[in-house]
Amino acid sequence: MVRTPIIAGNWKMNKTTREAVKLAQQISYEFDKNFDEVEVVVCPPFIDLRQVCTVFASDRSIVQMGAQDVYWEAEGAYTGAISASMLAELPCQYCIVGHSERRGYFHETDEDIAKKVRCLLEARITPIMCCGEALEVRDAGEALEFVCAQIRAGLGGLSAAELAKCVVAYEPIWAIGTGRAATPEQAEEVCAAIRATLAELAGEEAAEKVRILYGGSMKPANAAGYLGCANIDGGLIGGAALDAKSFGDLARIARETK
Ligand code: PGA
Repeated sequence: MVRTPIIAGNWKMNKTTREAVKLAQQISYEFDKNFDEVEVVVCPPFIDLRQVCTVFASDRSIVQMGAQDVYWEAEGAYTGAISASMLAELPCQYCIVGHSERRGYFHETDEDIAKKVRCLLEARITPIMCCGEALEVRDAGEALEFVCAQIRAGLGGLSAAELAKCVVAYEPIWAIGTGRAATPEQAEEVCAAIRATLAELAGEEAAEKVRILYGGSMKPANAAGYLGCANIDGGLIGGAALDAKSFGDLARIARETK
């Protein structure tokens, strides 16, 4: 099964709109129009989405847009929230859900995440559903069990066609922003277990279509190790996505490795 790799940049709470436009222009410059073997996605803060979208549209760039979160209600009195239809209109093709920072700092539950996945699919936006264990869980030898439970909670009950459209990002919490990346063997072990769980939920064929990304201190110097693994189909990149050159290099490494 040939899966098109994805390199997605999660800008987190970085970049004012002015700064975001500059970074988007630099990123746009990294890719020519024929760069189509890898899907390249950037996920800026909500407030920057409109302007960043305009930069890529006016350059006819291959770079696609993603948001970092969504709220599942269609519209109404939900102060501060952003709906899937608002994102779809931009257009945003992707949206991260259930990042460990949202689960941790903003108390998002598996149930919230499952609702977000569903509202995105209805709006024809591809969810990038994050999962990953804390260090205590890994040290207790429970990483696989923990992550697979997150997958069942977030994606269980979807039809095979819906599940096949989803993207999963495995991001061990202890590796995010710490410089202490998982080894490719550790990452591949979990990603293979995730794919087996997806097959349990919706069948082999759908599971084979799902792109599974690794995230956690991925950078050009260590990316090839992950991207060469059978069950890793790209990366969700934090720190290294804030530099256009290293982000471009990551996408080029993904193209060469797959
Ligand atoms: P990092 O972040 O690359 O800075 O470790 C990854 C993420 O949290 O998505």
